[in-house]
Amino acid sequence: MTTRKAPAAGYLIPITRPRLPPLADYTRLLERIWASRMLSNFGPLAEELEEQSRSYLGSEYLLSASSGDVALILAIRALDLAPGSRVIVPSFTFNSTVNAILWNGLRPVLTDIESETLNLDPARVRERLDGAGAIVATHVFGNPADVDTLGALAAEAGVPLLFDAAHGYGSLHDGRHVGTFGAMEIFSLSGTKPVTSGEGGMVVTNDPELAERIRYLRAYGFQSDYVSRYVGLNGKLSEMHAALGLLTMVRIEEALATRQRHVAGYRQTLGSLPGLSFQRVAPGDRSTFKDLAVLFADSTTRNRVELALTAAGIQTKRYFHPCHTMPAYRSFADNLLPVTESVYARILCLPLFEELTDDERGLVCSIVEKAMGRPAATRSRRRDGVDVQHLPVHAA
Ligand SMILES: Cc1ncc(COP(=O)(O)O)c(C=O)c1O
Repeated sequence: MTTRKAPAAGYLIPITRPRLPPLADYTRLLERIWASRMLSNFGPLAEELEEQSRSYLGSEYLLSASSGDVALILAIRALDLAPGSRVIVPSFTFNSTVNAILWNGLRPVLTDIESETLNLDPARVRERLDGAGAIVATHVFGNPADVDTLGALAAEAGVPLLFDAAHGYGSLHDGRHVGTFGAMEIFSLSGTKPVTSGEGGMVVTNDPELAERIRYLRAYGFQSDYVSRYVGLNGKLSEMHAALGLLTMVRIEEALATRQRHVAGYRQTLGSLPGLSFQRVAPGDRSTFKDLAVLFADSTTRNRVELALTAAGIQTKRYFHPCHTMPAYRSFADNLLPVTESVYARILCLPLFEELTDDERGLVCSIVEKAMGRPAATRSRRRDGVDVQHLPVHAA
């Protein structure tokens, strides 16, 4: 087993850890920046990242941005909705999705999710669609949302459909890349994502008018020579960020294959435990598993498993914290969200990252099994081969 540096306050096994390219590869790209003196303003590396991503995803237009958060703000802004318009959005999402609606002066309609896919529930969307200005759905943990039903609903109501695909770079629905559905989709390239530029984002669309608007909006709204056409902002991805993005983007398939292998391993060991289930991914779809979410039958069991893992130095997360329960958004909690609340009471995200070893995954599984009362004789064999004391400690 390889050993890694043990920081003072690290986890034995963190929930995630970025896989970085060899430093020499990054340095080579930095040398190009030093030679060109082009640090930002959509220089050659940002352009290369955009072009390679556009071709990988099969989209018409792809515009880099400084973060997923900014990409969301820009995408919603580009829709040019009337102030105060209602925008349907899941409460079970990272709060950035809801913030982007509010920063645009619009009103979030916090809506419930499906209990197994954890994605926005089209049946609940239909109930709240009358008079809405747009729908923003999240591909939760990279699991493609029901793009077909949501697309049909949006078309019927004549409203734009956006996807927060922050977790979905590399996800597939029916063989087609997430990023190419709805009016626009956005990606995040922050440090927890399989493709990362440290901080960064992308807006993807097949609509030339929306693409043009985003192009201006992300550069202060300037159309030409410091003359603003729109009220924009600074959403530029620097060349240093683009360089890292390029190096992680080119190995996306390898990254996803490793993640899928770990998910299969978790499923094989934990899948038969009564009272534990995995987030459901539709047959034919591919999730990036940006996070690996498991659901327990009740919160008491979840809490017991969480405690046992924490005591062993294994980081987990109750994720997402539903937006309608947060002080910032409570005034928009105008609707019962029983599935969201039930999921939040029972969910736990387990460690999943490319450099996770099979032994580490085995240890996580054996602790979950023990905390759930699986008899020792039937617990995963791997547990017996793992000496907790000799597992390396990861950075927090
Ligand atoms: C669902 C979702 N949307 C938006 C964002 C914001 O992306 P960023 O961190 O790149 O600003 C995140 C961040 O993880 C996210 O999880």
